[in-house]
Amino acid sequence: MIIANWKCNGSKQMIFTWFEEFVKNYISKESSYIGIAPPTIYLEYVKRIISEKSLGIKLGTQDLDAASGAMTGAISAEMILDYECNFSIVGHSERRQYFDEKNSSIKEKIHKLIDVATPILCVGETFEENKNNLIEEVISKQLRVLEGLNFQNEIVIAYEPVWAIGTGKTPLKEEVNEIHKFIKDVVQSSSINSLIPHVLYGGSVNVDNCKDFFNCEFIDGALIGGASLEGTSFANIVKSFNGSYK
Ligand code: 13P
Repeated sequence: MIIANWKCNGSKQMIFTWFEEFVKNYISKESSYIGIAPPTIYLEYVKRIISEKSLGIKLGTQDLDAASGAMTGAISAEMILDYECNFSIVGHSERRQYFDEKNSSIKEKIHKLIDVATPILCVGETFEENKNNLIEEVISKQLRVLEGLNFQNEIVIAYEPVWAIGTGKTPLKEEVNEIHKFIKDVVQSSSINSLIPHVLYGGSVNVDNCKDFFNCEFIDGALIGGASLEGTSFANIVKSFNGSYK
């Protein structure tokens, strides 16, 4: 599974060019394991192009709100269902950092979303926490938002070390692989029906380093920011993933 998180980037012109480049470089029709989370205002435009080009790319939102009604600016789980989005990113570190999102509200969002679309729950430690060997402790706490859920449907966790996002730095692939195994074990042991989640890696993934990650046993794909903003580079990452398809 390869997900593009465009964050607050793009324009209609960028999106048009993106798809021109993507289809030029990715000729396979098999695209059901690819997802795009555009800025919400462009969802309709992206949906139209995906349909016109007969691509199977999944659509998702970058966030949602647990409440609905008098909540100016919010997007509810009901709207995500109504619009047939396949997934929503929840708890991205930028939401935690710039919008002061806490595990308690992330938990509410996941509980709202679970029967509607696939949650992509982001977890990961800061640089300080990494240096203090607190990775497992921090991630365990962040995964507690899943407590009490009955996972009938798919759930995806994205391991995104905060210090690796947009910095060009990444952990070693062996370290990522080990943390992904840890995440799978924690989620499996806390879920009622022993569901094992897909775990994606995110943080400075690019065309050059992606293959190393994709070849690891417990890395099921990637959540990509910067390198997903160009159709050609994203297509090449997808091709790499295809080459190491598990
Ligand atoms: P970058 O790929 O730009 O480091 O961003 C990763 C990310 O935050 C994806 O959600």
